[in-house]
Amino acid sequence: MSNFHTLTIKEITKITSDSVSITFEVPKILQKDFKFKEGQYITLKETINNENVQRAYSIWKAPYENELAVLVKKVENGVFSTYANDSLKSGDTLDVMSPQGNFVPSLSENNSNHYTLFAAGSGITPIFSILKQILNTEFQSTVDLFYVNKTQESAAFINKIEDFKNNNSPRLKVYTLYTKESSEDSNFEGRINKEKLELMKQLGVLNVNSHEFYLCGPEQMIMDSKDYLISQGAKESKVKFELFTASSSGKEVEIEADFAEAKIHIVIDDDDFEYTFNMSKSDNILEEGINQGLDLPYSCKGGVCCTCRAKVLEGSAKMKINYALTEGEVEDGYILTCQSVPTSSSIKVSFDD
Ligand code: FES
Repeated sequence: MSNFHTLTIKEITKITSDSVSITFEVPKILQKDFKFKEGQYITLKETINNENVQRAYSIWKAPYENELAVLVKKVENGVFSTYANDSLKSGDTLDVMSPQGNFVPSLSENNSNHYTLFAAGSGITPIFSILKQILNTEFQSTVDLFYVNKTQESAAFINKIEDFKNNNSPRLKVYTLYTKESSEDSNFEGRINKEKLELMKQLGVLNVNSHEFYLCGPEQMIMDSKDYLISQGAKESKVKFELFTASSSGKEVEIEADFAEAKIHIVIDDDDFEYTFNMSKSDNILEEGINQGLDLPYSCKGGVCCTCRAKVLEGSAKMKINYALTEGEVEDGYILTCQSVPTSSSIKVSFDD
């Protein structure tokens, strides 16, 4: 299992009016734990107003930059994001979990591929990391980035992206779209949906035959883009995405059981705990474990981030939603505990595997 370590904030910088970048100092002894891949995220933990708060944030630096930095955008009523934007300062410490996530391309310096990346708002964070790492690893590969924001002023890293584009021309092309501001070319106004993508294809700027597509943003944009790209011949496995949060769009799998209670064994940090899961009252394995006083890892609680991943060692469980685990992980017995309900009356789940 990934562990929390206390890290000191090296630098905290305003990126837009409602977002900050937090750069951490990683001591030599922890460098192995905090080695990350492009597109991964870290979970930050802090006690705020007596509440234990854990949130996942994507790393915007690329691995070759050798610096651990995340973007935290202030969201309405966001306990952690408000704290990070308004109160945190350099020299403060936070508990940080080592990097996780599967939103990672498989790069090789011999590849000569074309990639298309889509980001909306702070969805640029993992996408920027992926973009930089592709261009610094695969010197014969090319990248198109479509980046949507409300206004130019609200577009995080826009100047850095422009500089990066100028230094990597003609291998990187960047198309910015604004939803609340007019552009010189009105084709580049509005959000990304199927019609907009068709228009981009007609204009010759969207390559539907790209080797891979990486998308990060709200669910509607992702699902629309995914459907469109697949309708244009892209293989589903080539369209990779990371959601901000899962919506409650009713795609939950219904789980029925013919037993009233299940015994759950949890293995974490080499310890073994046992509790009872009431099938009609308990919502999921993670929530019930936390209610029983266990210190279990989580972040989004929405089936999106993968922080709560554990392996089923005995018995079985079913997930209501899974946006985070790969098919291979599911076949190997991994579950998102925040989405899982036991389907056998006794189950053993390990957070250590
Ligand atoms: S806590 Fe994010 S997927 Fe379970």
